[in-house]
Amino acid sequence: MPIPIIVDCDPGTDDAVALMLALASPELSVLAITVAGGNVGLDLTLSNALALVALAESQVPVHAGADRPLLGRFVSEPRVHGADGLGGIILPAGGPPTPGLAADVIRRILRDAAESVTLVGIGPATNLALALTTEPALAPKVERIVLMSGAWAEGNVTPAAEFNAWSDPEALEILLDTGRPVVFATLELTAQAIVTPARIAAWRGLGNGRCLQVICDIQATVPPSRRLGGAGAPLHDPCAIAWLIRPDLFTTRACSVRMDLGPGPGRGRTLIDRWGRTGDPVNAMVLETVDADGFFNLLGQRLALLP
Ligand code: RIB
Ligand code: CA
Repeated sequence: MPIPIIVDCDPGTDDAVALMLALASPELSVLAITVAGGNVGLDLTLSNALALVALAESQVPVHAGADRPLLGRFVSEPRVHGADGLGGIILPAGGPPTPGLAADVIRRILRDAAESVTLVGIGPATNLALALTTEPALAPKVERIVLMSGAWAEGNVTPAAEFNAWSDPEALEILLDTGRPVVFATLELTAQAIVTPARIAAWRGLGNGRCLQVICDIQATVPPSRRLGGAGAPLHDPCAIAWLIRPDLFTTRACSVRMDLGPGPGRGRTLIDRWGRTGDPVNAMVLETVDADGFFNLLGQRLALLP
């Protein structure tokens, strides 16, 4: 039976790949896509999500959500994703968003679900947190929460913090406090999944579908990561989706994760205790390694299935 999921995102050049992977994979049933401001403002992340879903000829509903974090001001990241969030690659406009605010829709789906639902968060976690903190009784309907978020070492938006965690650390703390299993695809994992020109070229050779070609065009715009030596850019968000489809490509470690919610330079840091030094209770699982070739082969094979 396909795994029922809700994908909360902020497209985003890597979100685009993650959404296409989710929509192309029969192992998953995407019940809804919810959108937050993140890489770029909500107006753009929403229109990007709608355009990507239309390009894939999918009927999955797309709902607008939070345009800012629970606390503090909204900050985007156009340096990686371009001013429009998709590296300047223009897509045909999608349809209108489906009525219903993200947090309300997440709660409705959980309330009505006959079986528990997996929440996948690949942007700031504001929508997921709003849903679960305003109706905590729904937590048992959450199978697990799978996030591209955090880092146990160096951040990518500050020295201490990864962008999604940094964008709304209170929201991430709320998810950790639900008591539901939380799975992290951190920066250390995604650093093993580097998009290179050779990998893009290999994808292009897999077919002529417009989704595959557009994803290659988008990925070709992403600047190589200085943090990772300049060979290419880490493909963050699809790691969270791929783990649900092919967990055998990954290794994992159970550990405690706590948030730095302070106002200082460490704000947004995920304190991931991989060696049990704190004695804090285990509340999460981090994905530690990925078979990169297997991951990119899976992505190429699934992207080639799309229109
Ligand atoms: O730090 C990487 C994460 O922040 C990814 O989800 C990317 O899309 C941005 O949202
Ligand atoms: Ca994202």
